Amino acid sequence: MGRWWQGAVGYEIYPRSFADANDDGIGDLAGITERLPYLEWLGVDAIWIAPFYDSPGYDHGYDVADYKAVNTIHGDLEDFSALVAEAHSRAIKVIVDIVPNHSSSHHVWFQEALKGRDNPYRDYYIWRDPALDGGPPNNWVSHFGGPAWTFDEASGQYWCHLFLPEQPDLNWTNPAVRDEFDGILRFWCDHGADGFRIDVAHGVMKDPQFRDNPQRAAITDPEDPSDVFNAFDHLYDLDQDATIEVYQRWNKVVAPYDAVLIGESNPRTIDRVAGYVREGSLHTVFYLEPAWMVWEPSALLERLEAVDISAETGVSWVIDNHDTSRSPTRFGGGDRGRHRSLAVFSFMAALGGFPFLWEGQELGLVNAEIQAIDLEDPISTRNAHGKGRDGTRSVMPWDDSHANGFCAGATPWLHAPDRMASETVAGQENTENSWLLKHRRLLLLRKTLPDLWETAAVWSDQLDGPAKALRRGDVIAIANFGDSPVAFDLPDGHWNLRFDSRFAATGSAHIGRVEVPAERTYLLSLVS
Ligand code: NOJ
Ligand code: CA
Repeated sequence: MGRWWQGAVGYEIYPRSFADANDDGIGDLAGITERLPYLEWLGVDAIWIAPFYDSPGYDHGYDVADYKAVNTIHGDLEDFSALVAEAHSRAIKVIVDIVPNHSSSHHVWFQEALKGRDNPYRDYYIWRDPALDGGPPNNWVSHFGGPAWTFDEASGQYWCHLFLPEQPDLNWTNPAVRDEFDGILRFWCDHGADGFRIDVAHGVMKDPQFRDNPQRAAITDPEDPSDVFNAFDHLYDLDQDATIEVYQRWNKVVAPYDAVLIGESNPRTIDRVAGYVREGSLHTVFYLEPAWMVWEPSALLERLEAVDISAETGVSWVIDNHDTSRSPTRFGGGDRGRHRSLAVFSFMAALGGFPFLWEGQELGLVNAEIQAIDLEDPISTRNAHGKGRDGTRSVMPWDDSHANGFCAGATPWLHAPDRMASETVAGQENTENSWLLKHRRLLLLRKTLPDLWETAAVWSDQLDGPAKALRRGDVIAIANFGDSPVAFDLPDGHWNLRFDSRFAATGSAHIGRVEVPAERTYLLSLVS
């Protein structure tokens, strides 16, 4: 018997932006519950809800002040229970987002820790004495700009934060922290959660000696946090081998609940991806590089093949999430970018594992244009040149009424121009060959082709560079991301074209050879 996530497709929800049931301009759990019929119709098997816990919101929920409470802006625990009950009645699993690398500075643990070196909670966080010159203990930088250390005048020590100073890093060498999180995992499983997306899963352990990261490139723009971050080899602040022990422990905690553990990881090299999904640790891991890449067909396919082979069925494939520029924008914009986005996602649907859509991806949404004055993301608001994430986080366009049907009369929390009617769910759900119906067809078709996750992949050596193909049992997937057609020699038999990323509905039979047009993915199955 396979586990429930084998063959499943997930859908990421950013609760602030998905649906607002009480019309205060901020999305909520009750809004998600109201939209579950849509997700069932779309064919998703699981939703991952980004953090909805008590939080002051410096990082819009990724700064958790109480891991066992619902932020009142999103509802309460009863709303969560109602959501779970409704989702389960529609055979949709509910995955919550857990944030173990850091808490909010408002968390009672940190407030206690600030009281002094002898406080029992002091060791829940990472404190270091200043360097000899009084500066930060090492050269680590925050993902969101500035050093990864902030000085606490009262105690004369620095605290570590890989993100904002208001997101102090927890000390995972402290057994008490490990015990706390065992309890948090059980709490959400007891409330019906079917799994966890683990934020910054690769960050929880740090180098025991807190060594400086080697610098690999010059910093060209000190006001752009990603430029600064990428100037270093993150040998010592992230992706430590000991991380896996934390998830081996979690694996045992969630096993009685049959809950899935999905890591957000950003390993230094792709051959380290598989390290997170060794037996008895995480069940799948997000491989995030494709969600950051622009249109680079050969590089993309080369990496997909390498990761698929090294970590087969253990990968959660994505090209979009709440942190990156939307894929149609990154892949060239407009309809061309949308076609490319679906071509990549449909090939990912053939890579085993547990792929995820990001809300609005199914509509082919491009980034929203947000005015400078309306920016909300701390990456933009706290740095002169920070390339923030607001463009992908604007509200879900349901129809062409006020605020695209997200809320009735209020102003959405993130101000953005309304989408055109043709970009909305209502504008696409009955329109032949719309982006929405093509994505839906892909999801429904995948359910009928279990070879796509039950059978090991054999990558073909016929194609290379911007085109690649693989076979899983009686299914062949051919990705041609290049700018001219390619021919592929089929194995013996009649092969039915089941999915064409440009037109979705097909059915033509092929014997011997099939030609795949430029920037397209084909899925074919053997006619028995
Ligand atoms: C990754 C999350 O996806 C992102 O949104 C968040 O800002 C950081 N982790 C810090 O929690
Ligand atoms: Ca609301």
